[in-house]
Amino acid sequence: MSTDAIMEGLKQKFASEAERPYSKFLREEGLDVLNAEYVPNLHRVPVKPWARRGGNAAFLNHDASHTSNDCYVMEIPAGGKLNPHRQIYEEMVMILSGRGSTTVWNNAGKRITFEWKAGALFGIPLNCWHQHYNGSGAQPARYVAVTNAPPIINAYDNLDFVFNNPFDFPDRFNGEPDYFSARNDRDHWRVNTNYIPDALTIPLAMAHERGAGGQHLRFSLARTSQAGHLSQFPVGTYKKAHAHGPGAHVIILSGEGYSLCWPDGIEGKPERFDWEVGTLIVPRNAVYHQHFNTGREPARYLAFRTSGSARNSQGVMKCFYSRRIGGDQLDYADETPEMRRMFEEALARNGLEPKMQPAYEKELESLPPRVA
Ligand SMILES: [Fe+2]
Repeated sequence: MSTDAIMEGLKQKFASEAERPYSKFLREEGLDVLNAEYVPNLHRVPVKPWARRGGNAAFLNHDASHTSNDCYVMEIPAGGKLNPHRQIYEEMVMILSGRGSTTVWNNAGKRITFEWKAGALFGIPLNCWHQHYNGSGAQPARYVAVTNAPPIINAYDNLDFVFNNPFDFPDRFNGEPDYFSARNDRDHWRVNTNYIPDALTIPLAMAHERGAGGQHLRFSLARTSQAGHLSQFPVGTYKKAHAHGPGAHVIILSGEGYSLCWPDGIEGKPERFDWEVGTLIVPRNAVYHQHFNTGREPARYLAFRTSGSARNSQGVMKCFYSRRIGGDQLDYADETPEMRRMFEEALARNGLEPKMQPAYEKELESLPPRVA
């Protein structure tokens, strides 16, 4: 039986479950919904007027968006501002281009305004009113945001509750004057802050667990239950492959290269997605993925994601340790020769060579034995 025929039969059996409150919301907002699995450049995504918000936008949704998280790109016209808005779901924002400011206030009237420019990261405190202003009269400003609207809208199925709810969460935001000040309060890989002024230049911490010279920084902006991190890896290197749950929105901030994605246990070539500054990649649920730097500068990316991926009983994310001991990370020693050949060829096109040998040797010092 063909794939089409199999799917047609299943589609009919699931027909009564196809429409969910979030899918209805998405349709009625009237925006284009692009496939977020691979967006070559967020700066070039076409946008349309979004009446609810007052700017121009497009949704970028992945295969599991209807149950995990979603994404949109927003453009604020030159000299313009968005509508005041509140929502009882969480949102993380990265400014892609331009400069401006945002005012945030709660229902008790505690209010704060902060400024931003391209590269800034911040969260919208849960259910706070907020309004974004473009600070330029000549250029549009553009941001990308990831939210957990889908499970919230599906759970409550009432847009009045979601968008017109008077409840304050003072433990999330209480008008603290330094709420959106950059803080450098660090704990291992974590920085406790609600605002990162420039994702491209903030120092990261070493993370040899992810492979060759990699660096890492984790955060939960606006005390969100969602999560974000920054990663960077040096010239001539690639990270270890791993798999996890859906909804990790990987946005390239610097460098050039490509990512490979492949489902575990299924024969065939990995899918390859070439990237540049501004590319978005959202690996599908449980798909192995691996990032390769083929350019002449360190590659850095942002990931806005859920915090729902699998962890062991100590709270360690399974994608941080070896498949050989039950994790979801593929050791260099277990990858295919074809992976390395492809990387060498891609580097050679830029006149570069791999710098992976020290990482292969370092891995052997702590590599668990292969399970039969
Ligand atoms: Fe990942």
